[in-house]
Amino acid sequence: MLQWYKIDKTSSYDENRIYEVEVGSNRICILHHVSGWKAFSRKCPHAGASFVTGWCEGEELVCSYHRHRFNLNTGKGCTNQGNYIKIYPTRIENNELYVGIKKTRSFFTQLFK
Ligand code: FES
Repeated sequence: MLQWYKIDKTSSYDENRIYEVEVGSNRICILHHVSGWKAFSRKCPHAGASFVTGWCEGEELVCSYHRHRFNLNTGKGCTNQGNYIKIYPTRIENNELYVGIKKTRSFFTQLFK
């Protein structure tokens, strides 16, 4: 089940610039792209660099460290990379950005349900 979180102050965010934001207990990256808001993993799966210094080329996110590329819609890494990033759903409601994070239940909650 998805939990929707409002992201504050997005009106001051520049288009095509990547920002790190706190969403619930997670830290993720968001980007106001030409095709809308994108929300995705904060760290690159290649060597753990933050995407905040990366950039966007068309529908691809590029990590600034070693130039791994990821599709912004599917999260899939380019051919031969063998990696992927998590893409979070976004929605706009009353001009506010919301990001959906899958709610996880703790081990004990699952065990004693
Ligand atoms: S850390 Fe992102 S490409 Fe290496």
